[in-house]
Amino acid sequence: MNLSPWAVGYFVFVSSLSSSVTANNGNSSNNKGFISRPAFLPKEHTKDIPKTGDFDRMSYAQWTLKCTDVPQFDALEAAAASFRTDDKLHLRNLCNDSARCAGLTAVHMNEGGRRRLHLDYSRQQVTGEVMELLYDLADAVNFHDRREAMRRGALINSTEERAVMHHVLRMPRGYDFSIYGTPINGSSAHYGRAAGRGFQKSEGNVLLQNVHRVQEKIERFSNKVRSGEIRGVTGKRLKNFVCIGIGGSQLGAEFVHEAFRADPRAAKAAQGRTLRFLANVDPVDFYLTTKDLDPAETLIIVASKTFSTAETMLNARTVRKWLDDSLASISIKQADITAKHMIAVSSNPDLCKKFGILEQNVFGFWDWVGGRFSVCSAVGLVPLSLQFSFEVMEEFLAGAHDIDEHFFNAPPRDNIPVILGLLGVWNSTFLGYGTRALLPYAQALRRFPAHIQQVDMESNGKSVALDGTPLLHESGEILFGEPGTNGQHSFYQCLHQGRVVPADFIGFMESQQPFALEKEVANHDELMSNFFAQPDALAYGKTLVDLIQEGVPAPLRQHMVFAGNRPSSSILMTKLDVFAVGQLLALYEHRTAVQGFIWGINSFDQFGVELGKVMAKNVRTQITAARLRGVSVQGFNGSTTSLLELYLNHGKMMEHEE
Ligand code: F6P
Repeated sequence: MNLSPWAVGYFVFVSSLSSSVTANNGNSSNNKGFISRPAFLPKEHTKDIPKTGDFDRMSYAQWTLKCTDVPQFDALEAAAASFRTDDKLHLRNLCNDSARCAGLTAVHMNEGGRRRLHLDYSRQQVTGEVMELLYDLADAVNFHDRREAMRRGALINSTEERAVMHHVLRMPRGYDFSIYGTPINGSSAHYGRAAGRGFQKSEGNVLLQNVHRVQEKIERFSNKVRSGEIRGVTGKRLKNFVCIGIGGSQLGAEFVHEAFRADPRAAKAAQGRTLRFLANVDPVDFYLTTKDLDPAETLIIVASKTFSTAETMLNARTVRKWLDDSLASISIKQADITAKHMIAVSSNPDLCKKFGILEQNVFGFWDWVGGRFSVCSAVGLVPLSLQFSFEVMEEFLAGAHDIDEHFFNAPPRDNIPVILGLLGVWNSTFLGYGTRALLPYAQALRRFPAHIQQVDMESNGKSVALDGTPLLHESGEILFGEPGTNGQHSFYQCLHQGRVVPADFIGFMESQQPFALEKEVANHDELMSNFFAQPDALAYGKTLVDLIQEGVPAPLRQHMVFAGNRPSSSILMTKLDVFAVGQLLALYEHRTAVQGFIWGINSFDQFGVELGKVMAKNVRTQITAARLRGVSVQGFNGSTTSLLELYLNHGKMMEHEE
């Protein structure tokens, strides 16, 4: 085992504390008001523990280690127990220790220090010792090899036998990716199909050239549409873009679009153009998206990795009819309308062609780009380049690449996504806080929480480890968020006096659109006053003694107590420009991967979304049969049968009543 010497001492210290705590464990509150987690750890660890970095000898069991397999887990359990009971570890006390706080920051700089990404995690329920235990845990589960395997393109999405290489999408021209496929320490394990024949040094660079080739195609196409060289069937310029797609084929691009709208450079590039996203199969979404658009000026982008997602394909057919109804005439054929007004982003070119989309208008990507990690592929680049120009998007890719390099190279103690991921594991697995909030103090990041919600919850909401064995704890966190200060007037009540929800506050030193009334606080300063105040309010709270001193009437005092001790991290960045949006995206993508690596799960598959889809198919078949042929409802349980009958008879009942 790889416990550092002081950690062993700390383990001994906290073990004594934890034994008294376990006695009153059982999902109830202990006398300090903390929620105790039920004890779940098996008494004995069942797997051999590999030497970190010894990839040659790494067996399947070793490769699939999860955090509960290693003794470092016990040390952290014990540490967490002390946080539940020891008042000295209340954030009110921890935050007054300036030496501790100074140690719990990490900074990433660019442009000679003019651009800063500053993480302050001193308001997390951690000490330097706990952080060291978390780094030990990461070592013990071979985190570093797993991250390296991801970087080099090993098939770490083992259930689907795929590599996970969204970082390759942001590598600039001339980048040397010959490390691709190179086994760690000479081992060929986990390099799948390619392992048998070995890799040529050049293969990674060929792969990267293919990425750049697609980017060049996007650049050429978007420039031609923006300049008016490519036009619609009637000869009008195409200045409205509707992107049809759902989940990973929508949320990321939509978040970036929102984030760019007020950025002066991006906004200028978008002048006179409209980009909208159509995701929901609810016909209301189609109506609202298209109602005020001129089809002759509209280009439709169908974004779907599989090109078979039910919602996306029905929306695509609906929009195709909307185009045809308006544009088809004796001289304009339907096939021409589809060819000139519909393009696709997909890994399934055959289905795109079958739909009627011209081969040259299909922008591809690869199976090693997961849907929710696809913003930097053609999924995001096509609609966003049409709206903001490819030039702007290159800057965005550069921001994401900057954080990729930081993630793969910075030592763990300076590595911001690693720190954020480890804190996620600590808060959810050890302290038992299963929900977390993402609170950007930036209106432009309005859709960021929704995107990261998918990235994180679809990736890490799993119940088995890589080897299929059940996890001994819940994985995945429930993630939600709204921009500050709107959230403050909504759910912050619950954060301050209800549940403990670890939060990430994100703020900026400069506004995208600064404004100040004469002799008043600048609007951005007003916003940021809240950014600085809220984390302290959560951490310190307010005691009964404070309230008595303030002269609060006795009957109200208990209602006005804030327990405090609510953890948060503050991320302060220089400005929210195109580059910074790319940085934020990569930061949170990698944070998710870190948590998955520590938990020992596959963060890159999503079988959990399938069951509901299959069942919806049965219902769809039933509804269609009932509507078209009067077939009665059959094959469902009593509840679903009566609900379906109610639904299907609705129109008939109305007719009868008339
Ligand atoms: O249902 C979930 C999901 O498979 C996501 O993972 C994916 O991003 C989304 O559906 C859309 O899939 P596609 O891009 O294939 O249409």
